[in-house]
Amino acid sequence: MNQKGRVCVFGSFNIDAVVNVPRFPKPGESLIAHDSMTGLGGKGINQAIAASRAGARIHFIGKIGTDEYTDICHRMLDNAGLEIFTLFTAENVPTGKALIFVSDDGAENMIAVHPGANMTITHEEVERALKVVEASDILLTQLENNIDALQALIEKAHRESVYTIVNPAPYQPIPEPLFAKIDLITPNTTEAELLTGIEVIDRTSAEKAAAVLHQKGVENVIITLGSKGALLSHEGRTQLVPCIPADAVDTTGAGDSFNGALAARLADGDTLEKAVIFASAYASCAVEKHGTALTMPTMEEAQKKMSAYCEFV
Ligand code: RIB
Repeated sequence: MNQKGRVCVFGSFNIDAVVNVPRFPKPGESLIAHDSMTGLGGKGINQAIAASRAGARIHFIGKIGTDEYTDICHRMLDNAGLEIFTLFTAENVPTGKALIFVSDDGAENMIAVHPGANMTITHEEVERALKVVEASDILLTQLENNIDALQALIEKAHRESVYTIVNPAPYQPIPEPLFAKIDLITPNTTEAELLTGIEVIDRTSAEKAAAVLHQKGVENVIITLGSKGALLSHEGRTQLVPCIPADAVDTTGAGDSFNGALAARLADGDTLEKAVIFASAYASCAVEKHGTALTMPTMEEAQKKMSAYCEFV
């Protein structure tokens, strides 16, 4: 495999507690789940593993706390198959945790996340991370860390002409001057609405939201529209890349698989158009499996899906 793209993924590292339920419980209701698991999660590490399996050379940077999960986190990361990683540790702060319901009904998920240590990136840790950013072709981040740290990293990447991708999940307000330093932003419909004030329900509204993000200074916008595909807006035109069909069992981390694969293909020199199609195929494979980080698809699985899809269209 031709691995030339170096991607620095700076992001969250969580312990995910997942329960599989026939449907989401109602407020006040206790519902019997038919399966459960506890394991590695967090948008940062999910995207890093996806990008690595999609062919990129990854340096993941994240942070955990000091609690009963510290050793487990180190073991999990050692076995995650990443080329290089840096895991900072916070004293007296818990490791990030996410509680996830996955419903059999539509394979939808519901997540509440307590970011814990992820929100405590210090100035010194940013300084160390800046050296990694400088040596990368792409910086990929999400918004599950403290925004001042992300801001410093994005500004540095911009100064060094490192391509920056921001997946604005979960939503936090982004300081206005930062938009112009982001090369590519990848909100879903909810995040696009929170960022722009425009309710995104179809292609037309997605185009309007993308236009607002361009006005704020972002050159390239991809709005993921779930089963409606992804709207790519750049160079004065828009393109709707259809969703690649899947037999979905678990949509948790679908956005992470998309963003990781997208970064990997861009780092390898693909155009945005080609990278979005590959990322859609990759995400389509991801939702056909349960789990997130450790069940991210291989390059071969995504390529097979893509060839089948291209034959079909
Ligand atoms: O995108 C899925 C991820 O969101 C989960 O792994 C969970 O940790 C939350 O960060």
